[in-house]
Amino acid sequence: MCGIVGYAGPQTPSTTSLDVLLEGLARLEYRGYDSAGVALVTPRGLASAKRAGKLERLREALAENPLPEGTVGIGHTRWATHGRPTDENAHPHLSADGQVAVIHNGIIENFHALREELLGEGVTFLSETDTEVAAHLLGRALAKVGDLTEAMRAVVARLKGAFTLLAVEAGSPDRVVGARRNSPLVVGLGDGENFLGSDVAAFISRTNRALELGQDQIVTITADSVEVTGFDGEPVVPHEYTVDWDASAAVKGGYPTFMQKEIHEQPKAVSDTLLGRLDDQGRLELDELRLDTAVLRRIKKIIVVACGTAAYAGHVAKYAIEHWCRIPVEVELAHEFRYRDPVVNEQTLVVAVSQSGETMDTLQAIRHAKDQGSKVLAIVNTHGSTIAREADAVLYTHAGPEVAVASTKAFLAQITAAYLLGLYLAQLRGNKYTDEVAGYLEELAQLPTKIQQVLDRAGEVREVARSMSDARAVLFLGRHVGYPVALEGALKLKELAYIHAEGFAAGELKHGPIALVEEGTPVFVIVPTRRRPELHAKVVSNIQEVRARGARTLVIAEEGDEAVTAFADVVFRIPETPTLMAPLLTVVPLQIFACELAAAKGLDVDQPRNLAKSVTVE
Ligand code: AGP
Repeated sequence: MCGIVGYAGPQTPSTTSLDVLLEGLARLEYRGYDSAGVALVTPRGLASAKRAGKLERLREALAENPLPEGTVGIGHTRWATHGRPTDENAHPHLSADGQVAVIHNGIIENFHALREELLGEGVTFLSETDTEVAAHLLGRALAKVGDLTEAMRAVVARLKGAFTLLAVEAGSPDRVVGARRNSPLVVGLGDGENFLGSDVAAFISRTNRALELGQDQIVTITADSVEVTGFDGEPVVPHEYTVDWDASAAVKGGYPTFMQKEIHEQPKAVSDTLLGRLDDQGRLELDELRLDTAVLRRIKKIIVVACGTAAYAGHVAKYAIEHWCRIPVEVELAHEFRYRDPVVNEQTLVVAVSQSGETMDTLQAIRHAKDQGSKVLAIVNTHGSTIAREADAVLYTHAGPEVAVASTKAFLAQITAAYLLGLYLAQLRGNKYTDEVAGYLEELAQLPTKIQQVLDRAGEVREVARSMSDARAVLFLGRHVGYPVALEGALKLKELAYIHAEGFAAGELKHGPIALVEEGTPVFVIVPTRRRPELHAKVVSNIQEVRARGARTLVIAEEGDEAVTAFADVVFRIPETPTLMAPLLTVVPLQIFACELAAAKGLDVDQPRNLAKSVTVE
């Protein structure tokens, strides 16, 4: 998720505009980014500077070549989605005539078609980004209509996807224009100055008065005015509110911890990962997948290599990909893979899953795989990371930066991306017809709403977690795709609350682990959907088995599933959903439980002891 700042100040040019932009970007650094830039409207026209890397590099560039004093401006920290983290791909982007500067957060789904249209009309692109398309369209629209707000209106009518856009133009030293669809934008109301931001952290140090903008709205700010209309031009009176967070809380979006913020960002992480994956015939298109389709058709085996939560995401995807593609999928811990003598050749596709893209165990595993002649595809959340660079192809998740050490939204985005890969392969190899793929994509598209429904019940989970702060050991049971969810739930509790926890395949109970169950042992059970009665019935039996031995059963089951009620001490409900989609819902109560229990124990939820966000050593 990129950081966005806009400033409209007094009409006397000064250094204030640049200072406000840089201060706002510094407060947005928590969002994670890989490049930064600013643009100002000055008496000498537009002036801009941008650099890959951290804000410090931008400051150095500005020190070497100071910009003229301005009146209004925009600033951006970029979290790359389309195009590597380079100076050229950093924002702002300028129109061909250099009169308009644009910054953007989100994904313009139809940018390929728009880019082709502009190229066909002789436009030269300087970057690989989707954003530059908007800059050129805005420049052309402004030349036609002569007003930046109306030019923005004309342009957003052509864009699909999720976007927040801010623009300034050389001929309007008094205003900044913004537009938003499926991506946040807030207005800060100052005294003789006004602000725009991707979140209130951008301006919280200068004002706590804010306006929340709604879907499909355009805002025009000057130093002493704010005008809001719908994309249709109808005036809108936005709701004003006072931000009661301090600057520290603001960077967490008002949540006490980054982990809670990121748990609640999961609907967007999934929807953003799904965005822009269909071509204009509705066929699945993974444009970052630069592997020859003939290679993919010859694949006889897939091996997923990853660590920790990323490995469990791969384990969930195994069930779907084998079912859809009829290719055997092995899931291997990266640090084990590289030291055994795996059977790998040119008909093996090794899929590396990694949020950071820097995990040394996983990096060494893909190097080993390539030495053995395998093709490597990486599912990575961080553009330009080492694993992404060394893989033969990359399928990016779009979870945005994950700050908390314990992975949550990246887990759901990894499953989503792995499912997209599986459906792409099934479509390519003819295992699934386009309409069947479309059906699964529709099921995936329903998940963000269903995840939100689970999040809306977070209070029930938090209450139970607080009552269990003295728990000593917790078991997690699951079957089929619920088994890797059990493993992930146990990992969350271990790494956050420092409690011994273990995940088991439910069918394994009677082969030993049931000996652990005694009076009061907390046992979480992930119950399969009733659409798979053979799985559902067995897990209900497993609940009875542990309950009969005194376990305290905490069950995650679908709404309306009354078969579990008699044997459950606690039931956390999820919306009904197909089996393969269930992990993206059933894991959420387990994330919330672990997070709340750790907080109840007074532990550092975002930075647990002994752990690093990215394990860059073997
Ligand atoms: C997840 O909660 C853990 N922090 C850890 O297991 C993590 O998933 C693992 O280290 C892999 O990291 P990566 O996804 O960045 O490769």
